[in-house]
Amino acid sequence: MYAITGATGNTGSVIATKLLASGKKVRVIGRDARRLDDFVRRGAEAFVADVTDATALTNAFTGAEAVYAMIPPNPSSPEFSAYQERVSDAMAAAITKAGVGHVALLSSVGADKPEKTGPVVGLHNFEQKLESIAGLNALYVRAGYFMQNTLAQVGVIQNFGLVGGPLRAELPVAMIAARDIGEWTAEELLQLNFSGKQARELLGQRGLTYTEVASVIGQAIGRPTLSYSQFPPALIKPALLQSGMSSNMADLILEMSEALNSGYMAPLEARSAQNTTTTTFETFVAEEFLPRFKGQTKSAAS
Ligand SMILES: NC(=O)c1ccc[n+]([C@@H]2O[C@H](COP(=O)([O-])OP(=O)(O)OC[C@H]3O[C@@H](n4cnc5c(N)ncnc54)[C@H](OP(=O)(O)O)[C@@H]3O)[C@@H](O)[C@H]2O)c1
Repeated sequence: MYAITGATGNTGSVIATKLLASGKKVRVIGRDARRLDDFVRRGAEAFVADVTDATALTNAFTGAEAVYAMIPPNPSSPEFSAYQERVSDAMAAAITKAGVGHVALLSSVGADKPEKTGPVVGLHNFEQKLESIAGLNALYVRAGYFMQNTLAQVGVIQNFGLVGGPLRAELPVAMIAARDIGEWTAEELLQLNFSGKQARELLGQRGLTYTEVASVIGQAIGRPTLSYSQFPPALIKPALLQSGMSSNMADLILEMSEALNSGYMAPLEARSAQNTTTTTFETFVAEEFLPRFKGQTKSAAS
């Protein structure tokens, strides 16, 4: 049996779906049983547990041959790093107590660094907690920058007519579709070939600059001159707060942006067939960005 945290989310849903389609027993974990119903109809067992509750997670992981572990985003948390530590403490304790043999952890490019990478420090610390569990086979899936992060640009384009953010315009960023992370991780969980502790980077289909991001989005929305502007942290922070982020989370995002801009946070692996995935940014824009953009334009007009 496989236990999947974040099962209704971007990566977990893809993993649960693929394991179920392969005839595996799957326990899907989330906060609300109703949201897990769709998986139950496809043969999964639903388990309601909060990721900060070690006892509930121990029950959820008991009997699992392998676990998909992730820290759900919680951008309004006033102390995001402390929240991450609570989640990773609870999960590491549950993995130990339940005697889980294999864990695939959703981590990030940059998780090799112990500090100054914003929210990625919490993923580094989670990896370290799994490192110290004797006998555990752990795979740290160090994913690149989610293409989903660019969905925040829907509002920026509608309000300001441009794509804007803290990253350097010409910085190549390894951007990956969340579903590719799910597909790749599901395959690793099906094979269960990993042993010991190991990190693998996933760098998406190609590196993209935000200048290219603006160009691809501009073509898709019929504004071919759409351009990108880098804004200083002092201008970005109020926009992040406006979007519902806590001040602490906004500071962490800006710290991570600085780490990306300076090259401190960067992939360790050279691009290869093994760390390249298939979904292009053009496909992501057609399938996810454009519907969101059109939906919000329609509701803004009505
Ligand atoms: N953004 C990036 O560029 C990037 C890059 C590398 C790694 N990452 C990692 O990827 C993670 C996000 O992965 P994702 O996109 O797959 O996640 P997601 O879709 O945003 O969320 C996963 C699920 O977690 C569940 N959840 C939320 N709070 C919970 C709680 N307190 N207890 C139990 N379940 C809870 C929610 O399901 P229910 O509502 O059903 O409970 C949600 O659907 C980030 O947190 C980060 O660690 C992100």
